[in-house]
Amino acid sequence: MTQFKAKFPADFYWGGATAANQIEGAFDEDGKGLSAADFVEYIPKEQRTKDNSMEITAEQIRKTLSGESTARHPKREGNDFYHRYQEDIALLAEMGFTAFRISIHWSRIFPNGYDETPNEAGLQFYDNVFDELAKHNIEPVVTLSHYETPYGLTEKYNGWVGREVIDHFVRYAETVFTRYKDKVKYWISFNEINVITISPYTGGGILSDQEDNPMQAKYQGLHHQFVASALATKKLHEIIPEGEMGCMLAKMTHYPHTPNPEDVLKAQQDNQNNLFFTDVHVRGEYPDYLNCFFKEHEIEIVKETGDEEIIKQYPVDYISISYYMSLLSSASPEGEQTEGNLTKSLKNPYLEASDWGWQIDPVGLRVSLNEMYDRYQKPIFIVENGLGAYDKVEEDGSIHDDYRIEYLRKHIEQMREAIGDGVELMGYLAWGPIDLVSMSTSEMSKRYGFVYVDKDDEGNGTLQRSRKDSFAWYKKVIESNGEDLSS
Ligand code: BG6
Repeated sequence: MTQFKAKFPADFYWGGATAANQIEGAFDEDGKGLSAADFVEYIPKEQRTKDNSMEITAEQIRKTLSGESTARHPKREGNDFYHRYQEDIALLAEMGFTAFRISIHWSRIFPNGYDETPNEAGLQFYDNVFDELAKHNIEPVVTLSHYETPYGLTEKYNGWVGREVIDHFVRYAETVFTRYKDKVKYWISFNEINVITISPYTGGGILSDQEDNPMQAKYQGLHHQFVASALATKKLHEIIPEGEMGCMLAKMTHYPHTPNPEDVLKAQQDNQNNLFFTDVHVRGEYPDYLNCFFKEHEIEIVKETGDEEIIKQYPVDYISISYYMSLLSSASPEGEQTEGNLTKSLKNPYLEASDWGWQIDPVGLRVSLNEMYDRYQKPIFIVENGLGAYDKVEEDGSIHDDYRIEYLRKHIEQMREAIGDGVELMGYLAWGPIDLVSMSTSEMSKRYGFVYVDKDDEGNGTLQRSRKDSFAWYKKVIESNGEDLSS
């Protein structure tokens, strides 16, 4: 019997993904307002405690605004893409990218979030970026909201808790759809929409310490995001008929810790808790298991007349995911824990972990893709995957990141297997193709890129770009449409 080897489709997108707050810098240039990310502080590793989270308090905000705080805010600096986008896009083009994901910094367009008119300088910046991408035949994939809620909306409504934010978001979406209608086809409404329930500040600009019932507040904020996403999808189809809206989920696949049925049940529940976001986006309604969860936790989502119809009428066109690792579920979680993406897990003895403890599981990607395609039968776009690792610059300037090549190769192999299983896959965008500021730790030393950026955790460095070994490798992968994965 001959071994069947699937091929990547001819129109498969290869490229990379970023977020404005992790690359742009220029946080107060050309009329940009403050955003949630601009308040995230860098905490040196030796000072970090187990309790450090992505949450921010009202007191921290006050201290930052009054100048009392001396903390650094690396997401205000990024990797300086704002001033170097031409050089950076040329590097991506050299690797042969056919797609590049960025987010629009909402507060560059509407500085406070609730302004009536947009900031022309902000709009012009993204025009320049899209024109540069077009010059190199790179398709933009654009996220409307990637942990960048304008601070004005936090101040006025405590972020997405406020129903009013829906209208402000839809105005913003309409503005950029109209402006970029001839330049951008693929859109994503909210990056990792599930993160609002893990870190309400990150996902929704919500200060939990300002809420009597934080649990209620974050699910209310999430409901507003679902409605806003559906309304943005409606607008997109009116303004750009061939435009496609995707949802985006941080895919967290849970395996039972043991064959104990209690663990299996726990894994099933954890998987439901992860998939319910795509259930709503794709199927257009809250699943029964979630309504039961709300009852159990005495959460009462305030819905206005028409909300349910809107969510039902305007589902997404495609699903996008980030995938970094898998997790273990146990009914009695004793044992050694390890870190994951904004989460923790028991250690899986079959898996190795990254320098930051995230458990590396390429086969888990195939499992995840099959699970999602079975459930929804919608095209899937992998818009984030990669290895955050320490890189060493050799004396001659070279960087031998064979560990990154290994990680990516194994995931791409499993992606191809998933295509062989029948999954409809649109493309693969590696996270952080040019080193950027880490979302969870604000470090520069947690590097994902094919291109090294000379900047350290304290903000020192020339910002000079240099090619790592993985640069040439990924170029070859793209050139061969995923046929040649050898180093
Ligand atoms: C994803 C986010 O969850 O993970 C990105 O969408 C983030 O913004 C990426 O950068 C990797 O996480 P980290 O914490 O290593 O930067």
